[in-house]
Amino acid sequence: MAKVLVAYFSASGVTARVAHALAQAVGADIEKIEPAQPYTAKDLDWMDKMSRSSREMDDENCRPDLAETIDVAKYDVVFVGFPIWWGIAPRVIQTFLESGEFAGKTVVPFCTSGGSGVGKTDEVLHKCCSAQTKWKPCKRLSAAISPRELGAYVASLKL
Ligand SMILES: Cc1cc2nc3c(=O)[nH]c(=O)nc-3n(C[C@H](O)[C@H](O)[C@H](O)COP(=O)(O)O)c2cc1C
Repeated sequence: MAKVLVAYFSASGVTARVAHALAQAVGADIEKIEPAQPYTAKDLDWMDKMSRSSREMDDENCRPDLAETIDVAKYDVVFVGFPIWWGIAPRVIQTFLESGEFAGKTVVPFCTSGGSGVGKTDEVLHKCCSAQTKWKPCKRLSAAISPRELGAYVASLKL
């Protein structure tokens, strides 16, 4: 049996709920990707060009520190969940992917959003992993996804 981890970052709880439902559907372990410095409401203000999230997303080299490294060594499959920020994954997801060894593992990104699709998410994130990583295309999951829909999504991945 493949050992599966669901690792997620969630600023306001939407991705967290989907991640927990997904972990339950696949019988996976679950870990929270936590930035060393938590985001305040002010940090998340996308209307403010100078807010922390705006500045981070403007800088493709920005890598916010993690509160803790997540050890992915014992897993064969790692689902990585996050909200879409300005059309892609928050920079802390790049920190997470670059801080682990994903060679030989299957990485399955998924996201929630206010409506945007996954845009260039795969392109940006795949580059953070070894060429030996088996990459599945990122999927936007509805905040209200049902257990049946989650089951169908997981089956479609043919893990
Ligand atoms: C800084 C920031 C940027 C965002 N950018 C987008 C975006 O480009 N497109 C979109 O559909 N939603 C965007 N959103 C909305 C989130 O993707 C959406 O609310 C998501 O489900 C939140 O997940 P969370 O509760 O796990 O953080 C943005 C939210 C924030 C805080």
